[in-house]
Amino acid sequence: MKVLGIMGSSRRDGNTNDLLDVALKGAADAGAQVEKIILADYQINHIADCKLCRQRGKCINEDDLPIVIDKLLEADVHIWASPVYWYTVSGLVKVLLDRFSCYIYWHTELNFLERMKGKGGAIIAVQEEQGLERAQHLIGCLQLSFEFLKQEFLGFVLGSGGSRGTALKDGEAVKKAYELGRKCAEFALTKK
Ligand SMILES: Cc1cc2nc3c(=O)[nH]c(=O)nc-3n(C[C@H](O)[C@H](O)[C@H](O)COP(=O)(O)O)c2cc1C
Repeated sequence: MKVLGIMGSSRRDGNTNDLLDVALKGAADAGAQVEKIILADYQINHIADCKLCRQRGKCINEDDLPIVIDKLLEADVHIWASPVYWYTVSGLVKVLLDRFSCYIYWHTELNFLERMKGKGGAIIAVQEEQGLERAQHLIGCLQLSFEFLKQEFLGFVLGSGGSRGTALKDGEAVKKAYELGRKCAEFALTKK
């Protein structure tokens, strides 16, 4: 019954982080255990697509990815929080998604795909420009990833970005983030 927030902004105290905290508060108030990881705190290297793990038995990328993967596998719901960077997810988020391929196709002993299946996935996005269509590639990237991973999409919130503190001034987005967190907790509690 755990909800994991994945904070994918380069700014630790930015709008993405603020809205994610609101959602995690909603999840905690609804009875879930919550944890947040700040991707910028971990060293996760770009995928090499080398397949050398097949011969060596381990990844040539000796970084923090295994720590993050363990946290993802342990949680029942993932709330992916990302700013819109160049009309899609941040690089921090994309590099992590790319590295999923190592566990899916080559480094298979963790049974990653099977263990990711059935979890819930939710999205918090922030952007400076106006209009949902400007965030469509961020939302689409994650939503299709949930579909591929056979996870249940629990919803998204799109908040206002720009200077620090902007997102929290939008009461409607704050309310939606809190409610999304509650919904994630309710889903996580069904996995008890
Ligand atoms: C590298 C970069 C790319 C960005 N690209 C976009 C964009 O394509 N569309 C947009 O609306 N805002 C864009 N922004 C603005 C951010 O989405 C906005 O500042 C957001 O608040 C950043 O998230 P944060 O507050 O959590 O740090 C970009 C910002 C950066 C730093």
